[in-house]
Amino acid sequence: MQQPTRDSLSATSSLSDRPAPLDRARAHSRAPSVRSVTDRDGNELREVGGTGEQVPLDLVRPILCILSILRCTLTVRPSPQLQSLYLNPLASPTAADSPPPPAQHLRSPSLSSTSDRFSPHTVPGWPASVAFATRTTFPPVKKLARADRKRILVTGGAGFVGSHLVDRLMFLGHDVVVLDSFFSGNKTTLAHWVGHPNFELIRGDVVEPILLEVDQIYHLACPASPKAYQRNAVKTLKTSFIGTQNMLGLAKRTKARFLLSSTSEVYGSPTVHPQPESYWGNVNPNGPRACYDEGKRVAEALTYGYARQDGVDVRVARIFNCFGPRMSTDDGRLVSNFVVAALKGEPLQVYGDGQATRSLMFVHDLVTGLIDLMESSHSLTPVNIGSSDEGTVLSWAQTILSTVRSLRAAGEIAPLPPATPDRSEVEFVPAVVDDPPRRRPDTTLAREVIGWDPRWTVQAGLDETVRYFAAQLEMAD
Ligand SMILES: NC(=O)c1ccc[n+]([C@@H]2O[C@H](COP(=O)([O-])OP(=O)(O)OC[C@H]3O[C@@H](n4cnc5c(N)ncnc54)[C@H](O)[C@@H]3O)[C@@H](O)[C@H]2O)c1
Repeated sequence: MQQPTRDSLSATSSLSDRPAPLDRARAHSRAPSVRSVTDRDGNELREVGGTGEQVPLDLVRPILCILSILRCTLTVRPSPQLQSLYLNPLASPTAADSPPPPAQHLRSPSLSSTSDRFSPHTVPGWPASVAFATRTTFPPVKKLARADRKRILVTGGAGFVGSHLVDRLMFLGHDVVVLDSFFSGNKTTLAHWVGHPNFELIRGDVVEPILLEVDQIYHLACPASPKAYQRNAVKTLKTSFIGTQNMLGLAKRTKARFLLSSTSEVYGSPTVHPQPESYWGNVNPNGPRACYDEGKRVAEALTYGYARQDGVDVRVARIFNCFGPRMSTDDGRLVSNFVVAALKGEPLQVYGDGQATRSLMFVHDLVTGLIDLMESSHSLTPVNIGSSDEGTVLSWAQTILSTVRSLRAAGEIAPLPPATPDRSEVEFVPAVVDDPPRRRPDTTLAREVIGWDPRWTVQAGLDETVRYFAAQLEMAD
């Protein structure tokens, strides 16, 4: 094994001790790794996930191992792997950054990297110059016994929510297959897993049947932002109907447990507030949002049809507004719209009078809720997964603006370029058709049947999201 040189050691410690003298983006994208996050009770959030299925937010891994003849001395630094997957995309692990395998296993008995070495291969019989090297440095994953390791299909796994779900399932040690057409998702959200032995990425459309052998299906494939789902309303309906039917057919054949990611939009413009699962909704069946709202309603009807008729083991999560890193910068959703505008010094456009309400949930809480529901025995009715942190759209715009300003003042994100005027103030624009006036979930059922409650404050989630978008925008410069 190659021993680290003095130069390589000092280079390593300079990474951990002080900002690397790289470009602006790299310097700022490293900053988040050192700040702790506190939950709703003011306690430091060190992990995400439900009981028994927790993943550290900051995974500690050894950074260098100095081997003497008889003993191994370890120096460790905290390496915020889960956060760094989205907050610090410039710092993906590299062969040079990777610890030697024995040290990894000594330090992390429960979370171990299955293949964390750079492996050059030569092709037998070919000249030595014809060689290739696979990338085999991955975030560490839990080692599960074969009997405990599930084969899990995540449709729409390259999207915003799906990619975080995939991260969590991978960290927990499962075999994960992603099926995605990249209609509104992006391969880069999963790039850090490509090549990992537990991971497969299939470009495919759920509207076409597929034969796979799986134990669980998280069916998320469907564009979720109005901008994306209205781009091709008929396709959105086909994805919701035919795509869901195909995945339910797969669940029936393989006896896999099936979870549908439904939405609060099935409640339409609600006349009941907050919305319990027993409320049947008030949906415009022919407006511009109908392709999504009615599509999800038919997807729910199909899901329970397969459960009653064919005994498919189903779960339905009705998801309320969720936000976080990896939302697309131009998907037109509330949080991404406001954050990107504030970071660019542009006006934050608020539709109507800004008095419509939204309840915002951070993505790690949603992922925990989805896994908890999948693993629960509750199959009879849909379960709301959302936060009760309700605020007007105007108040969220103001909160996001002040978050961007305070992170800038603290030097955690880059200042506006000197030539860019700061025009980031609220600007009112005409209301959009059928925009629901109020949204807040009644989450009593989630608390009772899966013991789920959000842990992240909106502010902690916004801090992470703003840092992520700041890094994205700087890299795009
Ligand atoms: N994010 C939220 O606030 C929210 C709220 C309610 C419900 N949901 C539901 O959660 C799921 C994920 O939402 P998201 O925010 O990650 O959306 P997203 O648009 O970021 O991700 C959806 C993913 O599905 C893929 N996809 C779309 N059509 C497909 C098809 N026909 N075949 C295969 N893949 C396809 C997209 O390429 C994308 O990767 C969706 O089903 C959505 O309805 C999300």
